[in-house]
Amino acid sequence: MPSQGLALSNRLRYLAWRVRRIDVGSVVERARETAHAHGKWTPAVMVDMLWSAGFRQVGFQDYVDYDFAILNRAERATYMTHPVSNELSQKYDQPAYRGLFQDKVEFDRTFSTFLRRDWMVVGEGNADAVRAFTEEQGTIVTKEPVGQAGTGVHRYHAADITDWDEFHRGLLERGELLIEEVIRQHADLAAVCPGTVNTTRVTAFFDGDKTHILAMAQKFGRGAVSDQMTFGGFYTMLDENGHAVGPGYDSHGHVHVRHPDSGFVIADFQLPMVEQVKEFVDQVARVVPQIQYVGWDIVVTPEGPVLVEGNWGAGVYENKPSVTGIRTGHKPRYREAIGF
Ligand SMILES: Nc1ncnc2c1ncn2[C@@H]1O[C@H](COP(=O)(O)OP(=O)(O)OP(=O)(O)O)[C@@H](O)[C@H]1O
Ligand SMILES: [Mg+2]
Repeated sequence: MPSQGLALSNRLRYLAWRVRRIDVGSVVERARETAHAHGKWTPAVMVDMLWSAGFRQVGFQDYVDYDFAILNRAERATYMTHPVSNELSQKYDQPAYRGLFQDKVEFDRTFSTFLRRDWMVVGEGNADAVRAFTEEQGTIVTKEPVGQAGTGVHRYHAADITDWDEFHRGLLERGELLIEEVIRQHADLAAVCPGTVNTTRVTAFFDGDKTHILAMAQKFGRGAVSDQMTFGGFYTMLDENGHAVGPGYDSHGHVHVRHPDSGFVIADFQLPMVEQVKEFVDQVARVVPQIQYVGWDIVVTPEGPVLVEGNWGAGVYENKPSVTGIRTGHKPRYREAIGF
């Protein structure tokens, strides 16, 4: 069902933007993959994909990821999708405050008390400070502050660095201006993938009074610096008690019953300290009340939850029916909490 109460002009603008950006080849490719995966006829899937994008606010990747090809109309209506999420971000995240989330340095400053780790900013002439920080930590994570779509995170070991001036210059040149201490995750997360810090994505809406948890997903990495899909990561949705609802999956057609490296059965995963996570999200959601709709990346550590980042353009994490057998999504919760 189209969402009421969200500006029609926004929706039209988004649609126009989508139409301009349509890459016909990639639509055909996705339709073909989806048709093949579900035993459907490619042209029929393609027409349905285009129709869903134009009239039901379903992105092409949403259609593929949440197996719309096998869902009926009522089931589809329960799914959150990227165009709808984008509308919520536009409506409930005030432009003047988005920079506090968009820029990772600004973010760390704004939310410093919730990071529970050391960090510093690389600047002209502070090679000595970078060296001292890195040698003290042993390993560091560096970040390009703005808009790298999941690729702007790097990891370095002090032991590998011989020329500190060159290292410092390289960070400046590549724009890796934020350095962070490596987060130490809870043993229950390390049991699945010890080489990557595995974040919990909590999508939440702060209504000015109460924080509503809309959906929780657990991401798992493959040993790289980041658990993002660009680094081979995948996710599973969590239920309200923080238990995995099924195997893991990504947007590239991979399904993981077990973690490929550790063998951990993803459906058996239980997030530790779930109640603390919910309280923590309630606290961080109140820091910038002008940004009401956020996808929070949290890590549970032995001492409790810590904040990695907040995404004002929250994105969508949903159930994948062919993997979990669950044929309903989280949209009713969004509608109830946000009122659309
Ligand atoms: N301080 C840290 N210590 C260990 N791992 C970290 C740290 N910061 C980030 N990571 C890992 O890198 C991943 C990505 O980090 P982050 O969320 O800051 O950037 P991003 O999601 O790639 O950014 P964007 O969404 O803005 O493109 C995290 O999910 C986590 O796995
Ligand atoms: Mg992130």
